[in-house]
This record gives sequence, C-alpha cells and structure tokens, in this order.
Amino acid sequence: MIYLTRRERFSAAHRMYRHEWTDEQNLEIFGKCSNPNWHGHNYELFITVKGEISEDHGCVINMDILKEIIHKNVINKLDHKNMNLEVDFMKGKIATTENLVTAIWNELKGPVEEAGASLHCIRVKETENNSVEYYG
Ligand code: NI
Repeated sequence: MIYLTRRERFSAAHRMYRHEWTDEQNLEIFGKCSNPNWHGHNYELFITVKGEISEDHGCVINMDILKEIIHKNVINKLDHKNMNLEVDFMKGKIATTENLVTAIWNELKGPVEEAGASLHCIRVKETENNSVEYYG
C-alpha cells in the first residue's frame, strides 16, 4: 500500500459560537475564535490517499485529478469565504477545525474512490500550533 499526500492552502473567515449563548458565554468556551465580528485563518490542508501503484501509469492516483477533486469540492467553496455563512458543507455546524476536517472528509471520500484510490487521512492546520487529523 502506498500513501500519497497533497497539500493545499486556503484562507477563510469563521466564528465559533452557539447562537443561544451570550457573547460572554461564547468567549468563555471558544476564546478569541468567538469574536462576534469574525476573523480569519490561513489554513493548510493535507489530504493523504492510499492505494496500489497502477501498472498502467505507475501512480496511486493521477495528481492532476486529485488536485481537481480537492479544488472543486473543497478549496473553491472555502477559499476567501466565511465558513459559517457561505460554505454548504459547514451549514448548521460549529465552525471548529474538528467539524471542518470531518466535513472535508465527507466531501472527498466519494470522488477519491471514483478516481481509484481511497482516503487515508485528512489534516487541517488552523495555526502554526493547532491542527486536527481525521482517519474516517
Ligand atoms: Ni479562529
């Protein structure tokens, strides 16, 4: 089994909050990321897929196809967007990195399998110090 990782980057705004809580309660639970006037991060996204090496082309997956899948289903929807308001796969979810990473997994699983590989891990790095990994 071969594992292959593609890195992508995007910038997005968010706010972590529950609308039924006061701003003070949200600040207490979510910290600075609960700022009512939004804020952004420069995210890094690492998508690791796995599969066998194709005898036809010597690759696990065509990198151009993988890049296209990631851009169409994830990057184009997130980059320079407000993920609370504008991103279909984050609707109704608290905009945490944990919820983001599982939502990205759900967006990519089907298309990656159609392209002949399978998802192994998705990692979203929100800051230099904080990242979340998901293995499905
Ligand atoms: Ni934040």
